[in-house]
Amino acid sequence: MSAGEPLRVAVIGAGDMGARHARHWAAAGARVVAVVDPDRTRAELAATETGATAFTDASEAFELAPEAVSICTPTFLHAHYAIPALEAGAHVLCEKPVALKLSDAYAMRDAAAAAGRELRIGFMRRFDPAFDQLLDVTTRAGTPLLAQATITAGIRPKRLMHDAMANGGPIIDMCCHLFFVWDHVLGGQPLEASALGYTFSDGKPEVAHIRHRALDSALITLTYPNGSVGQLQVSWGLPSGVEPVERHSYVGPDGLVTVDWPSHVTLRDGRGVTRWRSAGSDAWKAEITQFHAELTRGAEQRIASVEAGIDALKTSLAVLRSVAARRPVPLVEVVADDPDPQEEATA
Ligand SMILES: NC(=O)c1ccc[n+]([C@@H]2O[C@H](COP(=O)([O-])OP(=O)(O)OC[C@H]3O[C@@H](n4cnc5c(N)ncnc54)[C@H](O)[C@@H]3O)[C@@H](O)[C@H]2O)c1
Repeated sequence: MSAGEPLRVAVIGAGDMGARHARHWAAAGARVVAVVDPDRTRAELAATETGATAFTDASEAFELAPEAVSICTPTFLHAHYAIPALEAGAHVLCEKPVALKLSDAYAMRDAAAAAGRELRIGFMRRFDPAFDQLLDVTTRAGTPLLAQATITAGIRPKRLMHDAMANGGPIIDMCCHLFFVWDHVLGGQPLEASALGYTFSDGKPEVAHIRHRALDSALITLTYPNGSVGQLQVSWGLPSGVEPVERHSYVGPDGLVTVDWPSHVTLRDGRGVTRWRSAGSDAWKAEITQFHAELTRGAEQRIASVEAGIDALKTSLAVLRSVAARRPVPLVEVVADDPDPQEEATA
Protein backbone atom coordinates (compact mmCIF):
# COMPACT_ATOMS: atom_id res chain seq x y z
CA MET A 1 0.00 0.00 0.00
CA SER A 2 1.48 3.36 -0.98
CA ALA A 3 1.31 6.11 1.63
CA GLY A 4 -2.08 7.79 1.58
CA GLU A 5 -3.57 5.20 -0.79
CA PRO A 6 -6.48 3.04 0.40
CA LEU A 7 -5.83 -0.66 1.12
CA ARG A 8 -6.72 -2.74 -1.96
CA VAL A 9 -9.01 -5.67 -1.14
CA ALA A 10 -10.51 -8.63 -3.00
CA VAL A 11 -13.46 -10.68 -1.74
CA ILE A 12 -13.83 -14.31 -2.85
CA GLY A 13 -17.36 -15.68 -2.56
CA ALA A 14 -20.20 -13.16 -2.83
CA GLY A 15 -22.96 -14.80 -0.80
CA ASP A 16 -24.20 -13.48 2.54
CA MET A 17 -20.75 -13.24 4.11
CA GLY A 18 -18.95 -12.01 0.98
CA ALA A 19 -21.43 -9.17 0.43
CA ARG A 20 -21.04 -8.20 4.09
CA HIS A 21 -17.23 -8.28 3.92
CA ALA A 22 -17.17 -6.14 0.76
CA ARG A 23 -19.50 -3.56 2.33
CA HIS A 24 -17.57 -3.41 5.61
CA TRP A 25 -14.15 -3.17 3.92
CA ALA A 26 -15.44 -0.23 1.89
CA ALA A 27 -16.93 1.42 5.00
CA ALA A 28 -13.58 1.00 6.81
CA GLY A 29 -11.86 3.00 4.07
CA ALA A 30 -10.43 0.21 1.92
CA ARG A 31 -10.82 0.08 -1.85
CA VAL A 32 -12.57 -3.15 -2.87
CA VAL A 33 -10.96 -3.88 -6.24
CA ALA A 34 -12.49 -7.29 -6.98
CA VAL A 35 -15.40 -9.52 -6.01
CA VAL A 36 -15.30 -13.13 -7.21
CA ASP A 37 -18.11 -15.66 -7.46
CA PRO A 38 -18.93 -18.31 -10.08
CA ASP A 39 -22.44 -16.91 -9.85
CA ARG A 40 -21.85 -13.74 -11.89
CA THR A 41 -25.06 -12.08 -10.70
CA ARG A 42 -23.94 -12.34 -7.08
CA ALA A 43 -20.43 -11.11 -7.91
CA GLU A 44 -21.87 -8.15 -9.81
CA LEU A 45 -24.30 -7.22 -7.07
CA ALA A 46 -21.59 -6.99 -4.41
CA ALA A 47 -19.13 -5.39 -6.83
CA THR A 48 -21.59 -2.70 -7.92
CA GLU A 49 -22.34 -1.81 -4.31
CA THR A 50 -18.64 -1.24 -3.57
CA GLY A 51 -17.31 0.05 -6.90
CA ALA A 52 -15.31 -3.16 -7.50
CA THR A 53 -14.90 -5.28 -10.63
CA ALA A 54 -16.80 -8.59 -10.69
CA PHE A 55 -15.00 -11.78 -11.70
CA THR A 56 -15.99 -15.42 -11.93
CA ASP A 57 -12.36 -16.58 -11.76
CA ALA A 58 -10.17 -15.74 -8.75
CA SER A 59 -6.92 -15.75 -10.72
CA GLU A 60 -8.09 -12.60 -12.54
CA ALA A 61 -8.69 -10.93 -9.18
CA PHE A 62 -5.20 -11.92 -7.94
CA GLU A 63 -3.71 -10.24 -11.05
CA LEU A 64 -4.94 -6.94 -9.56
CA ALA A 65 -2.48 -7.51 -6.69
CA PRO A 66 -4.89 -7.04 -3.77
CA GLU A 67 -3.16 -6.37 -0.45
CA ALA A 68 -5.88 -8.16 1.54
CA VAL A 69 -8.33 -10.90 0.58
CA SER A 70 -11.50 -12.02 2.35
CA ILE A 71 -12.35 -15.70 1.83
CA CYS A 72 -16.13 -16.14 2.06
CA THR A 73 -16.74 -19.32 0.05
CA PRO A 74 -18.22 -22.58 1.35
CA THR A 75 -15.75 -23.98 3.90
CA PHE A 76 -14.32 -26.84 1.81
CA LEU A 77 -12.88 -24.16 -0.54
CA HIS A 78 -11.19 -21.98 2.10
CA ALA A 79 -7.70 -23.48 1.59
CA HIS A 80 -8.16 -23.56 -2.18
CA TYR A 81 -8.38 -19.75 -2.23
CA ALA A 82 -6.47 -18.73 0.91
CA ILE A 83 -3.21 -20.39 -0.15
CA PRO A 84 -2.89 -18.71 -3.59
CA ALA A 85 -4.00 -15.39 -2.06
CA LEU A 86 -1.18 -15.64 0.51
CA GLU A 87 1.30 -16.75 -2.17
CA ALA A 88 0.27 -13.71 -4.22
CA GLY A 89 1.35 -11.56 -1.27
CA ALA A 90 -2.03 -10.69 0.27
CA HIS A 91 -3.05 -10.79 3.93
CA VAL A 92 -6.10 -13.03 4.38
CA LEU A 93 -9.23 -12.82 6.50
CA CYS A 94 -10.88 -16.23 6.16
CA GLU A 95 -14.41 -16.84 7.37
CA LYS A 96 -14.81 -19.42 10.12
CA PRO A 97 -14.43 -22.38 10.37
CA VAL A 98 -10.83 -22.36 9.12
CA ALA A 99 -11.39 -25.52 7.01
CA LEU A 100 -13.04 -28.93 7.14
CA LYS A 101 -9.74 -30.80 7.32
CA LEU A 102 -6.70 -30.30 9.54
CA SER A 103 -4.42 -30.94 6.54
CA ASP A 104 -6.01 -27.94 4.78
CA ALA A 105 -5.71 -25.77 7.89
CA TYR A 106 -2.03 -26.70 8.36
CA ALA A 107 -1.33 -25.94 4.67
CA MET A 108 -2.98 -22.51 5.09
CA ARG A 109 -0.92 -21.78 8.22
CA ASP A 110 2.29 -22.88 6.45
CA ALA A 111 1.50 -20.75 3.39
CA ALA A 112 1.03 -17.68 5.61
CA ALA A 113 4.32 -18.32 7.40
CA ALA A 114 6.18 -18.85 4.10
CA ALA A 115 4.71 -15.68 2.60
CA GLY A 116 5.16 -13.60 5.77
CA ARG A 117 1.52 -12.51 5.57
CA GLU A 118 -1.30 -12.40 8.13
CA LEU A 119 -3.90 -15.17 8.06
CA ARG A 120 -6.81 -14.56 10.43
CA ILE A 121 -10.09 -16.34 11.04
CA GLY A 122 -13.46 -14.60 11.20
CA PHE A 123 -14.51 -15.50 14.74
CA MET A 124 -16.47 -12.29 14.83
CA ARG A 125 -18.02 -13.09 18.22
CA ARG A 126 -14.81 -11.62 19.67
CA PHE A 127 -16.24 -8.26 18.53
CA ASP A 128 -19.71 -8.76 19.92
CA PRO A 129 -20.11 -6.74 23.15
CA ALA A 130 -21.62 -9.88 24.73
CA PHE A 131 -18.18 -11.54 24.50
CA ASP A 132 -16.41 -9.12 26.89
CA GLN A 133 -19.48 -9.04 29.11
CA LEU A 134 -19.47 -12.84 29.35
CA LEU A 135 -15.73 -12.91 30.13
CA ASP A 136 -16.24 -10.36 32.89
CA VAL A 137 -19.16 -12.03 34.64
CA THR A 138 -17.84 -15.59 34.32
CA THR A 139 -14.62 -14.38 35.97
CA ARG A 140 -16.78 -13.06 38.80
CA ALA A 141 -18.62 -16.44 39.02
CA GLY A 142 -15.27 -18.13 39.82
CA THR A 143 -13.44 -21.30 38.76
CA PRO A 144 -14.13 -24.10 38.02
CA LEU A 145 -17.10 -23.27 35.86
CA LEU A 146 -19.78 -25.81 35.01
CA ALA A 147 -21.07 -24.63 31.64
CA GLN A 148 -24.08 -25.72 29.66
CA ALA A 149 -25.26 -24.48 26.28
CA THR A 150 -28.17 -25.22 23.97
CA ILE A 151 -27.89 -24.26 20.31
CA THR A 152 -30.82 -25.32 18.16
CA ALA A 153 -32.38 -24.42 14.82
CA GLY A 154 -34.55 -25.91 12.13
CA ILE A 155 -32.95 -27.48 9.07
CA ARG A 156 -30.79 -24.71 7.59
CA PRO A 157 -32.20 -23.03 4.49
CA LYS A 158 -28.70 -23.26 2.93
CA ARG A 159 -28.56 -27.00 2.36
CA LEU A 160 -24.74 -26.91 1.91
CA MET A 161 -24.60 -26.31 5.66
CA HIS A 162 -25.75 -29.93 6.11
CA ASP A 163 -23.23 -31.36 3.66
CA ALA A 164 -20.28 -33.03 5.41
CA MET A 165 -18.12 -32.33 2.34
CA ALA A 166 -19.09 -28.64 1.94
CA ASN A 167 -19.70 -26.75 5.22
CA GLY A 168 -19.47 -29.68 7.62
CA GLY A 169 -22.76 -29.52 9.55
CA PRO A 170 -23.18 -27.88 12.95
CA ILE A 171 -20.37 -29.76 14.77
CA ILE A 172 -17.86 -27.97 12.52
CA ASP A 173 -19.74 -24.94 11.21
CA MET A 174 -21.73 -23.77 14.25
CA CYS A 175 -19.91 -25.26 17.22
CA CYS A 176 -16.61 -23.59 16.27
CA HIS A 177 -18.16 -20.29 17.45
CA LEU A 178 -18.89 -21.72 20.91
CA PHE A 179 -15.60 -23.62 21.10
CA PHE A 180 -13.79 -20.33 20.39
CA VAL A 181 -15.80 -18.55 23.14
CA TRP A 182 -15.26 -21.42 25.60
CA ASP A 183 -11.49 -21.48 24.97
CA HIS A 184 -11.55 -17.95 26.44
CA VAL A 185 -14.18 -18.45 29.15
CA LEU A 186 -13.28 -21.96 30.36
CA GLY A 187 -9.50 -21.61 30.34
CA GLY A 188 -7.90 -22.75 27.09
CA GLN A 189 -8.40 -25.65 24.73
CA PRO A 190 -10.28 -28.67 26.12
CA LEU A 191 -8.33 -31.73 27.26
CA GLU A 192 -10.96 -34.22 26.12
CA ALA A 193 -14.21 -34.49 24.16
CA SER A 194 -16.95 -37.01 24.71
CA ALA A 195 -20.09 -36.99 22.56
CA LEU A 196 -23.12 -38.79 21.24
CA GLY A 197 -24.31 -37.83 17.75
CA TYR A 198 -27.63 -38.00 15.94
CA THR A 199 -29.23 -37.10 12.63
CA PHE A 200 -32.65 -35.71 13.55
CA SER A 201 -33.06 -34.79 9.87
CA ASP A 202 -33.38 -38.47 8.88
CA GLY A 203 -36.55 -38.78 6.84
CA LYS A 204 -36.89 -35.02 6.30
CA PRO A 205 -37.21 -34.39 2.55
CA GLU A 206 -35.27 -31.08 2.51
CA VAL A 207 -31.94 -32.84 3.01
CA ALA A 208 -32.70 -36.26 1.51
CA HIS A 209 -30.67 -35.44 -1.63
CA ILE A 210 -27.41 -34.80 0.29
CA ARG A 211 -25.13 -37.79 -0.24
CA HIS A 212 -22.76 -37.05 2.66
CA ARG A 213 -25.21 -35.64 5.16
CA ALA A 214 -23.44 -34.39 8.30
CA LEU A 215 -24.45 -35.22 11.83
CA ASP A 216 -26.97 -32.53 12.72
CA SER A 217 -27.36 -33.09 16.45
CA ALA A 218 -25.13 -34.00 19.38
CA LEU A 219 -24.69 -33.97 23.13
CA ILE A 220 -21.10 -32.99 23.82
CA THR A 221 -19.02 -32.86 27.01
CA LEU A 222 -15.67 -31.04 27.04
CA THR A 223 -13.27 -31.02 29.97
CA TYR A 224 -10.80 -28.17 30.47
CA PRO A 225 -7.38 -28.03 32.13
CA ASN A 226 -8.56 -25.90 35.10
CA GLY A 227 -11.33 -28.35 36.03
CA SER A 228 -14.09 -26.52 34.17
CA VAL A 229 -16.56 -28.58 32.15
CA GLY A 230 -18.70 -27.58 29.16
CA GLN A 231 -21.76 -29.46 28.04
CA LEU A 232 -23.44 -28.58 24.78
CA GLN A 233 -26.61 -29.82 23.17
CA VAL A 234 -26.70 -28.77 19.54
CA SER A 235 -29.14 -29.45 16.74
CA TRP A 236 -29.82 -28.19 13.25
CA GLY A 237 -32.25 -31.06 12.68
CA LEU A 238 -35.48 -29.50 13.99
CA PRO A 239 -38.30 -28.88 11.51
CA SER A 240 -37.56 -26.17 8.92
CA GLY A 241 -38.44 -22.71 10.20
CA VAL A 242 -38.11 -23.45 13.93
CA GLU A 243 -36.70 -20.29 15.52
CA PRO A 244 -32.96 -20.56 16.30
CA VAL A 245 -32.06 -20.49 19.99
CA GLU A 246 -28.72 -20.10 21.75
CA ARG A 247 -28.71 -20.14 25.54
CA HIS A 248 -25.85 -20.73 27.98
CA SER A 249 -25.52 -21.07 31.74
CA TYR A 250 -22.36 -21.09 33.87
CA VAL A 251 -22.24 -22.11 37.52
CA GLY A 252 -19.11 -21.28 39.54
CA PRO A 253 -18.27 -21.13 43.26
CA ASP A 254 -19.27 -17.46 43.39
CA GLY A 255 -22.28 -17.19 41.11
CA LEU A 256 -24.54 -18.20 38.23
CA VAL A 257 -24.38 -16.64 34.77
CA THR A 258 -27.22 -17.05 32.28
CA VAL A 259 -26.99 -15.98 28.66
CA ASP A 260 -29.37 -15.47 25.76
CA TRP A 261 -26.70 -15.04 23.07
CA PRO A 262 -25.91 -12.31 22.09
CA SER A 263 -28.56 -10.08 23.62
CA HIS A 264 -28.72 -10.81 27.38
CA VAL A 265 -26.13 -11.76 30.02
CA THR A 266 -27.16 -12.01 33.70
CA LEU A 267 -25.00 -12.66 36.79
CA ARG A 268 -26.52 -13.77 40.09
CA ASP A 269 -23.95 -13.60 42.89
CA GLY A 270 -23.55 -12.55 46.52
CA ARG A 271 -24.11 -8.93 45.51
CA GLY A 272 -27.48 -9.58 43.89
CA VAL A 273 -28.51 -9.67 40.24
CA THR A 274 -26.52 -7.86 37.52
CA ARG A 275 -28.33 -7.71 34.18
CA TRP A 276 -26.73 -6.65 30.89
CA ARG A 277 -28.64 -6.13 27.67
CA SER A 278 -27.00 -5.53 24.29
CA ALA A 279 -27.61 -2.16 22.69
CA GLY A 280 -27.26 -3.92 19.32
CA SER A 281 -24.09 -4.01 17.24
CA ASP A 282 -22.60 -5.44 14.06
CA ALA A 283 -19.76 -7.76 15.06
CA TRP A 284 -18.71 -8.38 11.41
CA LYS A 285 -18.35 -4.67 10.81
CA ALA A 286 -16.32 -4.22 14.00
CA GLU A 287 -14.10 -7.14 13.02
CA ILE A 288 -13.31 -5.83 9.55
CA THR A 289 -12.79 -2.28 10.82
CA GLN A 290 -10.29 -3.72 13.32
CA PHE A 291 -8.44 -5.79 10.67
CA HIS A 292 -8.23 -2.71 8.46
CA ALA A 293 -6.72 -0.77 11.40
CA GLU A 294 -4.24 -3.58 12.06
CA LEU A 295 -3.09 -3.69 8.43
CA THR A 296 -2.99 0.05 7.80
CA ARG A 297 -2.12 1.57 11.19
CA GLY A 298 -0.39 -1.27 13.04
CA ALA A 299 -3.22 -1.54 15.58
CA GLU A 300 -2.85 -4.25 18.22
CA GLN A 301 -3.75 -7.76 16.92
CA ARG A 302 -7.28 -8.66 17.98
CA ILE A 303 -8.59 -10.75 15.06
CA ALA A 304 -8.43 -14.48 15.80
CA SER A 305 -5.27 -16.22 14.65
CA VAL A 306 -5.17 -19.25 12.38
CA GLU A 307 -4.06 -21.19 15.48
CA ALA A 308 -7.39 -20.33 17.15
CA GLY A 309 -9.11 -21.66 14.02
CA ILE A 310 -7.07 -24.87 14.20
CA ASP A 311 -7.86 -25.29 17.93
CA ALA A 312 -11.61 -25.00 17.29
CA LEU A 313 -11.38 -27.42 14.35
CA LYS A 314 -9.49 -29.94 16.49
CA THR A 315 -12.27 -29.78 19.08
CA SER A 316 -14.89 -30.40 16.37
CA LEU A 317 -12.87 -33.32 15.00
CA ALA A 318 -12.41 -34.78 18.50
CA VAL A 319 -16.20 -34.61 18.95
CA LEU A 320 -16.78 -36.41 15.64
CA ARG A 321 -14.13 -39.00 16.48
CA SER A 322 -15.77 -39.56 19.88
CA VAL A 323 -19.18 -40.10 18.25
CA ALA A 324 -17.69 -42.57 15.75
CA ALA A 325 -15.53 -44.47 18.23
CA ARG A 326 -18.05 -44.29 21.12
CA ARG A 327 -15.35 -43.24 23.59
CA PRO A 328 -13.87 -40.05 25.04
CA VAL A 329 -11.18 -38.58 22.77
CA PRO A 330 -8.20 -36.66 24.21
CA LEU A 331 -7.51 -33.56 22.10
CA VAL A 332 -3.80 -34.45 21.89
CA GLU A 333 -4.88 -37.43 19.81
CA VAL A 334 -6.24 -35.15 17.07
CA VAL A 335 -3.19 -34.28 15.01
CA ALA A 336 -4.20 -35.52 11.55
CA ASP A 337 -7.36 -36.03 9.51
CA ASP A 338 -9.56 -39.06 10.04
CA PRO A 339 -10.43 -40.74 6.72
CA ASP A 340 -13.93 -39.25 6.80
CA PRO A 341 -14.99 -38.51 10.36
CA GLN A 342 -18.64 -37.82 9.61
CA GLU A 343 -19.06 -40.92 7.47
CA GLU A 344 -17.74 -43.00 10.37
CA ALA A 345 -19.82 -41.04 12.85
CA THR A 346 -23.06 -41.61 10.93
CA ALA A 347 -22.32 -45.28 10.05
N1 LIG B 1 -19.02 -15.57 10.86
C1 LIG B 1 -20.24 -16.10 10.81
O1 LIG B 1 -21.02 -16.02 11.74
C2 LIG B 1 -20.66 -16.81 9.57
C3 LIG B 1 -22.03 -16.84 9.22
C4 LIG B 1 -22.39 -17.51 8.07
C5 LIG B 1 -21.43 -18.15 7.29
N2 LIG B 1 -20.12 -18.11 7.68
C6 LIG B 1 -19.08 -18.79 6.87
O2 LIG B 1 -18.87 -18.02 5.70
C7 LIG B 1 -18.64 -18.88 4.57
C8 LIG B 1 -19.67 -18.54 3.49
O3 LIG B 1 -20.97 -18.68 4.03
P1 LIG B 1 -22.22 -17.85 3.44
O4 LIG B 1 -23.29 -17.94 4.47
O5 LIG B 1 -21.81 -16.53 2.93
O6 LIG B 1 -22.61 -18.80 2.23
P2 LIG B 1 -23.40 -18.38 0.89
O7 LIG B 1 -23.90 -19.66 0.33
O8 LIG B 1 -24.35 -17.28 1.17
O9 LIG B 1 -22.24 -17.81 -0.03
C9 LIG B 1 -21.19 -18.59 -0.53
C10 LIG B 1 -20.83 -18.05 -1.88
O10 LIG B 1 -19.68 -18.76 -2.36
C11 LIG B 1 -19.86 -18.91 -3.76
N3 LIG B 1 -19.03 -19.98 -4.26
C12 LIG B 1 -19.33 -21.28 -4.43
N4 LIG B 1 -18.31 -21.91 -5.03
C13 LIG B 1 -17.35 -20.97 -5.24
C14 LIG B 1 -16.07 -21.03 -5.84
N5 LIG B 1 -15.56 -22.14 -6.35
N6 LIG B 1 -15.36 -19.88 -5.92
C15 LIG B 1 -15.84 -18.71 -5.40
N7 LIG B 1 -17.07 -18.63 -4.82
C16 LIG B 1 -17.80 -19.75 -4.74
C17 LIG B 1 -21.34 -19.21 -3.91
O11 LIG B 1 -21.78 -18.98 -5.26
C18 LIG B 1 -21.93 -18.23 -2.93
O12 LIG B 1 -22.26 -16.99 -3.53
C19 LIG B 1 -18.73 -20.31 5.11
O13 LIG B 1 -17.43 -20.78 5.42
C20 LIG B 1 -19.53 -20.17 6.39
O14 LIG B 1 -19.24 -21.15 7.36
C21 LIG B 1 -19.72 -17.43 8.76
